[in-house]
Amino acid sequence: MSSIQQKSMNAVDLTQKTFFLMSGASRGIGRTMAIECAAKMATGSVIVLIARSTAGLEETKAQILAKNPSNVTVFLLTLDLTRPSADQISSAIFDATLSERNLDEFKLAMIVHNVGSIGDVKRYAKDFSDIDELHDYYAVNVFSVVALNSEFMKRFDVQTRRLIVNITSKCSLVPFKSLTMYCSGKAAREMYFRTLALEEAERDPTLTVLNYAPGPVQTEMTHEIENNAVAFDVRAIFKGLREERTILQPIETTIKFLKVIETGDYVSGAHIDYYDN
Ligand SMILES: NC(=O)c1ccc[n+]([C@@H]2O[C@H](COP(=O)([O-])OP(=O)(O)OC[C@H]3O[C@@H](n4cnc5c(N)ncnc54)[C@H](OP(=O)(O)O)[C@@H]3O)[C@@H](O)[C@H]2O)c1
Repeated sequence: MSSIQQKSMNAVDLTQKTFFLMSGASRGIGRTMAIECAAKMATGSVIVLIARSTAGLEETKAQILAKNPSNVTVFLLTLDLTRPSADQISSAIFDATLSERNLDEFKLAMIVHNVGSIGDVKRYAKDFSDIDELHDYYAVNVFSVVALNSEFMKRFDVQTRRLIVNITSKCSLVPFKSLTMYCSGKAAREMYFRTLALEEAERDPTLTVLNYAPGPVQTEMTHEIENNAVAFDVRAIFKGLREERTILQPIETTIKFLKVIETGDYVSGAHIDYYDN
């Protein structure tokens, strides 16, 4: 099979009946991506939104239903992904939403691992000695992502076309001062998805894995870096992006994201950045 054929096989059609799960959907990039993806979906589609803030999730749901009032059913799951129990991962997320439904009805199953936290940006790498703090950070940003993804793959097997998206960052590839936890967590998380893509590529043609780096986007996360990063040159980068209006808005990166997944012009497991052509 040529690489061109392989690449086009990665395109997804969001206008089908879709099962869609978005973590970190209560604000920022996750909210906008969920709204814009849901706007395309066919009748009978199911959307699961996860975050800690019920109010934030309710607002995302309201905006989804305002754009696509009759087609989709939206389930909200208020959950702290720091230490979800195995039961919360395996039953609450999927049994609660799918027990009454036949999984085969879905033509597309898509999960977007968007949850993310920046960690403590007020310290340098040499100053992280609190093991509980480290556990909690990697639990949200790596461990729960891996566990949730594995549950998704258990539920949806080769009979369903599946797209797995990891919202990654340039920080998975390049170190930034003050962003110790964030850079190391993003690197570990992306390598998990690259390994998954490699393992499944030969035996599972219905699965596509994408690591999408959204570029610098104006959200609470970048606000925190600009205001609190211990390294002043890093603060200045983000201040400059905001003042020069070169920082992106969530809708801009979402439009690019939709183009990437609907075109499918990448090899499964690839790292695709907002600024890539
Ligand atoms: N903004 C950027 O410039 C940028 C650049 C590259 C990559 N990214 C990535 O894009 C993704 C979204 O970031 P964002 O900028 O939109 O950040 P954000 O506004 O801070 O949103 C983060 C989301 O994650 C959720 N979350 C955080 N901790 C959680 C926890 N313990 N349990 C459950 N949910 C939790 C938050 O919801 P609750 O607080 O309600 O739980 C929120 O919905 C992240 O993976 C981030 O690393 C962002």
